[in-house]
Amino acid sequence: MYNSEQTKALQKKTEAWLVAANAGNMSEIVEDNIEDLRYCLRFHEYRYYVQNDPLISDFEYDTLYTLLEQFEKENPGAVTPDSPTQRVGKGLIKDFPKTQHLVPMLSLENSYNADDLLDFDRKARELSGLSAIEYCVEPKFDGASISLLYENDLFVRGVTRGDGEVGDEITMNIKQIRSVPLSATFSEYGIEQIEIRGEVLMNKKNFKAYNDTLMEEGIPPLANPRNAAAGSLRIKDTAEVSRRNLEAFLYHVSFLSTGNRQSFNTETKEDKPVSDKNTVPSTHSGMLEMLWRLGFRSPKNEMKVFTGIDQVISHVHDFEKERDNLGYEIDGMVIKVNDLHLQDELGMTSHHPRWAIAFKFKARQATSKLLGVEYQVGRTGAVTPVAKIEPVPVGGVTVSSISIHNEDYIKEKDLWIGDTILIERSGDVIPQIVKSFPELRKSDAAGIVFPKTCPACNSLLYKPVGEAVWRCINLNCPAQIVEGIIHFVSKDAMDIRSFGEANVRKFYESGFLRSIPDVYTTKLQQAIEDSKKQPLNRILYALGIRYVGETTAKTLANAVDHLLQLAEFSEEELMALDDVGVKVAKTVYGFFRRPDNLHLIQELDKLGVRLTNEKKNLVNEGNLNGQSFLFTGTLTRLKRTEAEEMVEKNGGKLLGAVSSKLNYLVAGEKAGSKLEKAKKIPNIKIISEEEFLKMLSFSK
Ligand code: IVH
Repeated sequence: MYNSEQTKALQKKTEAWLVAANAGNMSEIVEDNIEDLRYCLRFHEYRYYVQNDPLISDFEYDTLYTLLEQFEKENPGAVTPDSPTQRVGKGLIKDFPKTQHLVPMLSLENSYNADDLLDFDRKARELSGLSAIEYCVEPKFDGASISLLYENDLFVRGVTRGDGEVGDEITMNIKQIRSVPLSATFSEYGIEQIEIRGEVLMNKKNFKAYNDTLMEEGIPPLANPRNAAAGSLRIKDTAEVSRRNLEAFLYHVSFLSTGNRQSFNTETKEDKPVSDKNTVPSTHSGMLEMLWRLGFRSPKNEMKVFTGIDQVISHVHDFEKERDNLGYEIDGMVIKVNDLHLQDELGMTSHHPRWAIAFKFKARQATSKLLGVEYQVGRTGAVTPVAKIEPVPVGGVTVSSISIHNEDYIKEKDLWIGDTILIERSGDVIPQIVKSFPELRKSDAAGIVFPKTCPACNSLLYKPVGEAVWRCINLNCPAQIVEGIIHFVSKDAMDIRSFGEANVRKFYESGFLRSIPDVYTTKLQQAIEDSKKQPLNRILYALGIRYVGETTAKTLANAVDHLLQLAEFSEEELMALDDVGVKVAKTVYGFFRRPDNLHLIQELDKLGVRLTNEKKNLVNEGNLNGQSFLFTGTLTRLKRTEAEEMVEKNGGKLLGAVSSKLNYLVAGEKAGSKLEKAKKIPNIKIISEEEFLKMLSFSK
């Protein structure tokens, strides 16, 4: 897409824009160079979202984006449909109009073993009369399929699969996927209209984070990233869609027209140059190259071309072993006849193309039977139903119990005792029930009756209006106390390793661990002593305040010098902190209003648990004093993360990329392009790891 000359030139321009942006009063400069600024922004979006290799920091990108946004706000006439600002929607989407695809979206025939593939190849050879066929093999992305239409180089609409003929138009939501270009120079190929197919995904990391936030809010998680992607595309609030960080792979050109000249579906065997510069490719792999060249994230780097089916078979088996190492879910491979003319010759059955087949990997789903339900009481009193199921192996582990979250979830999934159920365990996500099979249910099957009283202490359960979770509100409920202590000592909280869940339960039952402060009176382990010095964010997390996860705990800790200062914050002041919304502000505020919580903090204080923010104090004392640092190459004495931690502890800042804002580049062994780049920027000091350590010893 961008060759190295262009990349260098764009990086230079970016730096010039950044310098200018900081100088202020920009209107005239932007006016004369607005397309240039957009060009820079598109380039950095491409580097970040398509190539996964950003050249500037998020902050620098935001600086340039804001500049463009500001200018367009003052000059609405200067906005273009493919300006990077046009991804942002206004208000809510009203509906998703039904839209006909130019070419129907077919599904693929499935295969499960080598014999199926040999059969597929034999038929294709028989029909074509060829002795060996060239195939392009690529991952089968496990997401939601979409169809994109570009006309005269502009993205005009995005549509869901729907019933294959007609889908829902979701253009504004597709614009939230930053790797989908709003314009692309198809005209270089003489192409006027093109329909491109692909798959929208939520990558494994984002999916896990998304499910974690759902669970923190008491909402049942989604079974797999495919449901998360499909659901996200149907949200009417584009800002929310944008927050989901969706990605897309585009893998198929279903239609293209070059004015009155050609459409490849009806083409003859020769490629015709349709412009001076470029020829429309005549192979599938060529199409993927073309899409990549025009700025799309096609599976160009994931595909492989083979002649003959034997190599294809060994490749798909090899690739299956790599499945867990990918950042996104795939459920198989797709094998496509590479020559587009041959594809046309082979044509379709009523359901599938004869030129492609899906090879499905081992399922991560399995069926089992729901034997019964147990109820667990958590540290906040939430009562969670857990289904006991007939043990069944899924994705490499045997599953015998599975959370079914809450009463509404049981209704929604229509679960009855004795039901046959489909379960899924995708990636490292906890197993989920995908669905039940009501049609297989016996007529005398028993429903699941949610208990009215706490299974641990027998007090009446209570469900606040608008919530889905039944709670035990007895503060002395033994189950809550035990779970609270388990959470307090857990790895990410106070990290008292020798305790562990089983020990807490044992100590509780034997009677000498009945509350959190008891943890410190046992005085058995050095680990317990050490835990008193855990940083403030950990004690905040350890206290188990509802909605305060590890990240929120860090935000809160950073805002104060002592834990009890948080008790002085109003809800509004709490909400002014980064990422703290109404819900968190309310529970934190509420927590510090309860005398028993203040009493708990006092007792911990008396026992010597540190409640001050040492990190903050260190920052103030540090001598790196707001200077910015970036590490490159291999460090020999420190781990990269240690070095970065030292910078922050001593009051320095970390930058993600070389720019004029950088003060120090610490160059380790085999430093490469960052070092070269830094040498060209006069105010950056390039230092060695030794020199960095020296700086620190003066900063103590
Ligand atoms: S090609 C005419 N390639 O799998 C065939 N499909 O049942 C066009 N899929 O509906 C599809 N990865 O949603 C193709 N690399 C890939 C794919 C892929 C995932 C999905 C697609 C399709 C389904 C097939």
